[in-house]
Amino acid sequence: MGIDLGTTFSAVARVDEFGKPVVLPNRDGETLTASVVFFDGEQPLVGTMAKRSIVSSPLDVAQFVKRAMGDPSWRFETSRGTPYRPEEISALVLKRLKEDAERLLGAKVTDAVVTVPAYFGDAARRATIDAGTIAGLRVRRILNEPTAAALAYGLDGLVSGTVVVYDLGGGTFDVTALRIEDGDFRVLATHGDRNLGGFDFDNLLMRLLDERFVAAGGPSLLADDTTEAVLREKAELAKHTLTTVERTRVALAAHGFTHTVPLTRADFEDTASALLSRTRDITELVVEEAGLTWHGVDRILLAGGATRMPMVRRMLERVSGLTPDASANPDEIVALGAATLAQLLATDTDDGDGTASGMSTVAAPTVSGMRPVIRDVTSHGLGELVHKRGTRSTENRVIIPRNSPVPAEWSRVFHTRFDDQPAIRTSITEGDDTDPAHVRIIGQEDIEVPPYPKGAPFETTLAYDENQIIFVKVKDVTADSVVGTFEILYAQNLDGDQLARSAMRISAISPL
Ligand SMILES: Nc1ncnc2c1ncn2[C@@H]1O[C@H](COP(=O)(O)OP(=O)(O)OP(=O)(O)O)[C@@H](O)[C@H]1O
Ligand SMILES: [Mg+2]
Repeated sequence: MGIDLGTTFSAVARVDEFGKPVVLPNRDGETLTASVVFFDGEQPLVGTMAKRSIVSSPLDVAQFVKRAMGDPSWRFETSRGTPYRPEEISALVLKRLKEDAERLLGAKVTDAVVTVPAYFGDAARRATIDAGTIAGLRVRRILNEPTAAALAYGLDGLVSGTVVVYDLGGGTFDVTALRIEDGDFRVLATHGDRNLGGFDFDNLLMRLLDERFVAAGGPSLLADDTTEAVLREKAELAKHTLTTVERTRVALAAHGFTHTVPLTRADFEDTASALLSRTRDITELVVEEAGLTWHGVDRILLAGGATRMPMVRRMLERVSGLTPDASANPDEIVALGAATLAQLLATDTDDGDGTASGMSTVAAPTVSGMRPVIRDVTSHGLGELVHKRGTRSTENRVIIPRNSPVPAEWSRVFHTRFDDQPAIRTSITEGDDTDPAHVRIIGQEDIEVPPYPKGAPFETTLAYDENQIIFVKVKDVTADSVVGTFEILYAQNLDGDQLARSAMRISAISPL
């Protein structure tokens, strides 16, 4: 299966017996399943039913959990006090998708390709793999969402050349520039914002509506959970309406006060202009970092439901001179691309680590008779903290720069500071800046070393695998031996025991 685990909606797709990727409807017949979990007592409900429960039981509903992936401190607590980690909530959504697909196909689903925003860092990627494991799925690959969209667009053979994918979903924003040629998908550059999506546009609209409601003499709707939940629902609906028509009216009520707020598309676009500009700046940066100008870009592909907003398409047309390709369904395209890769992996004879049962064995999809090859890049720089010569302060030294092709492996040599230094502290960072304040320490380990005079050389090797998961190796250059290897981020992710416990716990629950 290919699974698009979205902030607001998720979709599951597979390649059918004709070699065509198709989205599988859920048990309610919908192609999208709301990534929302409602705890009815301890029984979780996923999807539309859960989304409808937000207004009546705002405190029993977990949503937008994708934003918390990789955050070790985040917990959702049911009203009975049962805590859930973000991986576990996501696992419940995945489990529901898996079970719906199994019902439809009458076969077990064991393996999946799961998509993530290109801008996700290591911790969030690991958390996504863990969510799959907890849900009883073997995650064969983590695929970047814009790359998945390009794969789905490009596979029909109609899209080739240099393309920019602009992916604005419910919670995240990514831009990726790629070259597509004869089934070769080569990513040139990528950038994004993991906290920018339709959700943030909704927030602005909520604030605007609330201001107008208060100005008309009403109480603030943001002051309590229930009126806020109703306001969110109304704001999102108004946003959708304004995609199609120029003006709408939003009926609001609280504590016996009612008022209908008129709202125009221009009002909305005015309120949201800073958010839109932010997406424009990131898009232009990616074009530049890909070594391109707009003249060198052949097409703009849209992914993510929020690209339906007319202001998005207008802005892209204005800056690029191109009409964005809106031929695909923007909220299904990512799942279709994931299904394509899942199919490739399932039929890949080079892949000796088992087979993906539950997928029908059909010929792999081809483009002009070729199997697509996907080469992605890193979305974050990776480095380590080193001491500035002759000072006590540290600076960040980037070892693998952003936009490096993955898999990637880079090394740098550093030197010990003292005679007979007993250990070295390896602090691995995610980010591009030399200032330690502007990067994130994602792993830290003290490694014991043999006594040497100061200035002894050690070599740090950082590697990104195809999922952009990071591995670290420290080598004693003098002895030519490895003194430490670690997979980082134990601190931010589940350890083996926790993962096993979560899997056990979730396996006992069948989300409705
Ligand atoms: N007609 C429309 N007009 C405006 N916005 C829309 C429209 N249809 C959907 N959206 C918005 O698109 C967003 C959902 O898009 P999508 O399903 O692609 O996101 P997601 O996959 O859940 O999130 P992400 O990819 O960021 O994790 C929501 O914010 C929704 O309000
Ligand atoms: Mg999405």
